[in-house]
Amino acid sequence: MRAAVVNGFGAGFDVEEIDIEEPRGREVLVDIKASGLCHSDLHFAETNFGMEPPMVLGHEIAGVVAGIGPEVTEFSVGDHVVGSLVQFCGACVACLSGDTVRCAHPEATLRAPDEPPRLSRRGEPVLAAMGTAGFAEQALLHENQLVGIDPAVPFAEASVLGCGTITGAGAAINSAGVRPGQTVAVIGLGGVGLNVISGARLAGAARIIGIDLNDEKLELARAFGATDVVNGRDGDVVAAVQQLTDGGVDHAFEVIGRKDTALQAIAMLAVGGTASLIGIHGAGSTIELDPNDFLRWQKKVQGVYMGHANIKRDIPFYASLFLQGRLNLTDLISVEIGIDDLNEAYDQLRTGRTARSVITRF
Ligand code: APR
Ligand code: ZN
Repeated sequence: MRAAVVNGFGAGFDVEEIDIEEPRGREVLVDIKASGLCHSDLHFAETNFGMEPPMVLGHEIAGVVAGIGPEVTEFSVGDHVVGSLVQFCGACVACLSGDTVRCAHPEATLRAPDEPPRLSRRGEPVLAAMGTAGFAEQALLHENQLVGIDPAVPFAEASVLGCGTITGAGAAINSAGVRPGQTVAVIGLGGVGLNVISGARLAGAARIIGIDLNDEKLELARAFGATDVVNGRDGDVVAAVQQLTDGGVDHAFEVIGRKDTALQAIAMLAVGGTASLIGIHGAGSTIELDPNDFLRWQKKVQGVYMGHANIKRDIPFYASLFLQGRLNLTDLISVEIGIDDLNEAYDQLRTGRTARSVITRF
């Protein structure tokens, strides 16, 4: 099958013929119909986050079940599915409590080291990164990493549910617990940040301030429910937010992965506010914090991983909201591309102009 392989950090994506195994045990073979370009995959392709080339990235996927292993109980051939990088065993205390993003044994979803690798090239193993490896014609995933979805949801929209939506909307709804009437600021309006706006709107936030450097993104943010927008190029972002909210917001979300914007998120909080850090920072980066922000001003800072999602609960929930017209997914998709256009599309993402590019031709 055709797959976009990362052969070295910073070397981009090479579309090549590779081999994929038949499903074993609880594995499901999926014909990929749509695969979104999350910014995280660009980080993983450029820097060592513990996944090493040769590897196939891609973790925002939707497709159709093409085959099932003998122990699969949840899916049948022909089912429409969404995949996620959240790997959970389903048996540890965290999983049994519903906190699948805190699973103690995510490796339970992978093949054992003595089994043949899921992906290979001329007999040599190729890493199926995150257990999803979605930048390919087909993927082999443990059934815990898949969720069945109503076929009425188009594949491109469905793919975004697998990361951007559960992470962004989940950050507002699950992790921050935004309540009706609260004020919210979102810094960084890419595929994830726009979904934070959706989550804040669903949670009933009174004021949602979108912040980006790109005017097109600010326009887009309004389509997702931002009540106010601020361009970071126009001066002091913190002062602008304080002015709009009479002193600061109840919740600020940093959705880029930068030190300066993370500090802005903390600085723009009202007394007792919570900053939620979502963007991935470079390895070894640090942020200096003023303890008095936390004592006298009762601020809180939390890291958010995958929007504290439970994919089996949250993906069908967001899909139903989409089908009811209550969750905007369509405007997230800037362009549908072919797998051969992957490098060019990531160059576009770097410029900050596109929200989500989605591969729909393999
Ligand atoms: N101030 C404000 N906005 C900024 C700034 C800045 N200094 N720098 C970049 N941005 C904006 C870009 O213009 C873009 O709209 O941040 C947005 C980032 O969006 P994407 O590149 O689409 O990234 P996304 O896929 O949304 O992921 C955001 O979350 O999951 C993590 O790894 C992911 O760290 C990444 C972050
Ligand atoms: Zn992602």
